[in-house]
Amino acid sequence: MTLFHVCRRNSKECRDCGFCTEHFSCPGVDKPSIERFETACIDCDVCYVACPHSAVERVKDVVPRKQIMIVVDGEYFAVPERTTVKHALELLGLEFGKFPDETKIFAPCETGGCFACAMPINGKPKPACVTPVRDGMTIDLELPKDYVPLRRISGFQPHSVGGVGTPWWVKKSSQRYVEVACFAHGCNLGCPQCQNYMVTYDNVTPALTPFEAAAVLTAERNKYGVDRMAISGGEPTLNQAWLIRFFEELRQLNPDERARLHLDTNATVLTPEFVDGLVKAGVTGVGPDLKGLRTETFMRITGIIDDGLARRYLENAWSITEYIIDSYYPESLFVGVGIPYNRYFITLEEIREMGERIVGINPEVQACLLDYFPSFRRLDMERPSVHEMRKARETLVEAGLKTVLAQTTAGHLGP
Ligand code: SF4
Ligand code: SF4
Ligand code: FES
Repeated sequence: MTLFHVCRRNSKECRDCGFCTEHFSCPGVDKPSIERFETACIDCDVCYVACPHSAVERVKDVVPRKQIMIVVDGEYFAVPERTTVKHALELLGLEFGKFPDETKIFAPCETGGCFACAMPINGKPKPACVTPVRDGMTIDLELPKDYVPLRRISGFQPHSVGGVGTPWWVKKSSQRYVEVACFAHGCNLGCPQCQNYMVTYDNVTPALTPFEAAAVLTAERNKYGVDRMAISGGEPTLNQAWLIRFFEELRQLNPDERARLHLDTNATVLTPEFVDGLVKAGVTGVGPDLKGLRTETFMRITGIIDDGLARRYLENAWSITEYIIDSYYPESLFVGVGIPYNRYFITLEEIREMGERIVGINPEVQACLLDYFPSFRRLDMERPSVHEMRKARETLVEAGLKTVLAQTTAGHLGP
């Protein structure tokens, strides 16, 4: 017998922060409401993973679920009510996976942000992970050929500092703004100290086509008079079709040589073919984040509890970073590696080992240490002091890296 659960707000832990009513919508109800818990839950788990105060519990569902009929690729199937399309399809034997290459349906974020799991539901493409099954619903597993990908994107704005992959000489420029950026919703990791959780878990911002997003970012470029345009997240690489078309469109709208098109990524699901496609689409810079060298560290930083998955993500991040540097750097692609630092989750010894491994790939590559601040579910940790960041930077320099920056509360240290 299939066991189901529902999510329930723990009123003792809930801080009434409003995040679950303002930034994500519960698929079980039409309007955002805290009363949804237990009454309309379709066990999507969005509130469970997104509540910043871990105030949502998963409990066994004791209410029996009726069977309803759905039509999948023209065939009728009975599935339980009050669940997601993804879960219903899993019960029918379909596989959803956390890597784009290995299973039929890629479902990396499961919070309704990335649209990688979108499929025609009653004729309209919707994310399977957060869409409730309904009696008589029709589901097609293939998207139509003329489908224009969608993704929730927000935060179009200028930045005065830039990201990990912004070249150091641009960061040091005296201009007020160094780039304009936007942020992709949804992530395949679940970092307890997520530095941008308001975007990562927001599933109420309307989804945009790549053409709409590229047009808005280009307008921002023109408004603020900068040449760099960047996308960060969340994790931008989760929806490959969307991202390639976004950069193609951005390049078309910005054909001048001064235009720099940049991608920030956790690099966990990037493949060589995907990277080649991005470069062909016009990307000129990439900032892969390397969240540790050891699997335990990666698990601590990312919140991934499946050690096999964590190992695969971490190995992929390192090997694709090596591929990018060996294949493209520096002629056609600027690479700036990001390394999160906070003594709460990584030691200086491991930072040194990371530096040595990067030196083994190419000692000239820019590395940028990020001083992770308390955020999301890790409000208990302290932001590293300037002194700590200086020590971490010296550790990477001693390991042999030639260009090391460190983000601190007092600005960037480094070249
Ligand atoms: S997000 Fe969590 S803490 Fe905030 S109101 Fe919802 S249940 Fe309460
Ligand atoms: S967000 Fe998902 S898991 Fe949470 S109450 Fe709504 S349907 Fe249930
Ligand atoms: S996996 Fe469904 S929207 Fe991201």
